[in-house]
Amino acid sequence: MSSINYTDKIPNNVELSQDKTLQRALEHWQPNYLQWWNDLGPEGSQDLDVYLRTAVSVDPQGWAQFGYVKMPEYRWGIFLNPREEGRQVNFGEHKGEAAWQDVPGEHRANLRRIIVTQGDTEPASVEQQRHLGLTAPSQYDLRNLFQVNVEEGRHLWAMVYLLHKYFGRDGREEADAMLQRHSGDADHPRILGAFNEKTPDWLSFYMFTYFTDRDGKFQLCALAESGFDPLARTTKFMLTEEAHHMFVGETGVSRVIARTCEAMNQLKTDDPAKVRAAGVIDLATIQRYLNFHFSVTIDLFGADESSNAAIFYNTGLKGRFEETKRDDDHLLQGRTYKVLAVRNGQLVEREVPMLNALNEVLRDDYIKDSVAGVNRWNKVIEKAGLPFRLVAPHKAFNRKIGALSGVRVSPDGRVVSEAEWAAHERAWLPSAEDRAFVASLMGRVVEPGRFANWIAPPVMGINRQPVDFEYVRFN
Ligand SMILES: [Fe+2]
Ligand SMILES: [Fe+2]
Repeated sequence: MSSINYTDKIPNNVELSQDKTLQRALEHWQPNYLQWWNDLGPEGSQDLDVYLRTAVSVDPQGWAQFGYVKMPEYRWGIFLNPREEGRQVNFGEHKGEAAWQDVPGEHRANLRRIIVTQGDTEPASVEQQRHLGLTAPSQYDLRNLFQVNVEEGRHLWAMVYLLHKYFGRDGREEADAMLQRHSGDADHPRILGAFNEKTPDWLSFYMFTYFTDRDGKFQLCALAESGFDPLARTTKFMLTEEAHHMFVGETGVSRVIARTCEAMNQLKTDDPAKVRAAGVIDLATIQRYLNFHFSVTIDLFGADESSNAAIFYNTGLKGRFEETKRDDDHLLQGRTYKVLAVRNGQLVEREVPMLNALNEVLRDDYIKDSVAGVNRWNKVIEKAGLPFRLVAPHKAFNRKIGALSGVRVSPDGRVVSEAEWAAHERAWLPSAEDRAFVASLMGRVVEPGRFANWIAPPVMGINRQPVDFEYVRFN
């Protein structure tokens, strides 16, 4: 069951050849997907040989095989974790029933919406990152970017498989629409805000893979609890790939910080202008990028109070992070949770029914996980003997969704006037000038083992290869 059939046109471990209609439908979608990859995937990458991992089995050991691949020839396919015997719906009003192997009719529309929303983010991030290959700071980083990109492409396949297999004609239409909406497109944008933002430079890319791919992790973890078993099984496998994306983000930011600290110590200065003159990114700018990506990403969890979130949970479609590890009744009726609101110019906590606050519950779990990495970045600065510390902004800062949208809140959590916001915005969020400065550092480094001046080399290479390994052959 767990080994993957690579002889089919579409690699899979779901015995696709047993279902000719489905196989034909997906084989019909496949060339459209490849066309999309060629049009909106990584720019100028078609002929490169990239040292990539490809899944060969979904077993914990050895599901990744490394080798040189031209990306348009990457074997995108359909890989589900093995079925767990006797699995049940573990929360909500259907708790204790056998997990569904088919879509329950009454939950069809909601389930489709959940799958479409998740699926839409996958190609969106590939589109957002498509120009980055032209300015990669090293071969190692270029390879990591491409690894993330091909796997996001595969995540799209995962959701498209569910749509085709379980949702009939409207599922097929939704699968087509995944290739028709585009990140930042004025007429057909991607569904969620953060996926229409630009990822214009590598600092943005690392922040994105640290913060926004981590949103992916939490959404996938919540879906991995779903009573709809095929969704749980496919998201569980996606999660194994997601870990690498967050690794790229965390180590990327960490290496930028390390290089900056090194330059600060050499120059014995903390003056951002002098730090910039040395061709590295000053810590204050890194903090502003962090503020931006953190705030934009936590909006992805949705409104603090949401009747949809309650419905998704009650009906067993989407659980909490680590639902089955939690020690409560998994029904949550009558329980409450604290959300933020503004009263008389102050942030105050309000108790609301927990079922309605499940977006906030997931957001808070996410914040805890994110902050842990910020602390690890601070260790790098501390080790360099510098007093600067990065901080995650308050969760009310720069919000565009929910009760806090439209309220001006400083990174340290004070409600501020429009005038105070305007006076400080450049200190709190990346300005056009910050972005122009970061952009000015970007330039493609192609020699194996060489790194751009603004970033430190990694501690280790990929798959135990040396750091100066030829990760990309430019031919
Ligand atoms: Fe993904
Ligand atoms: Fe990802």
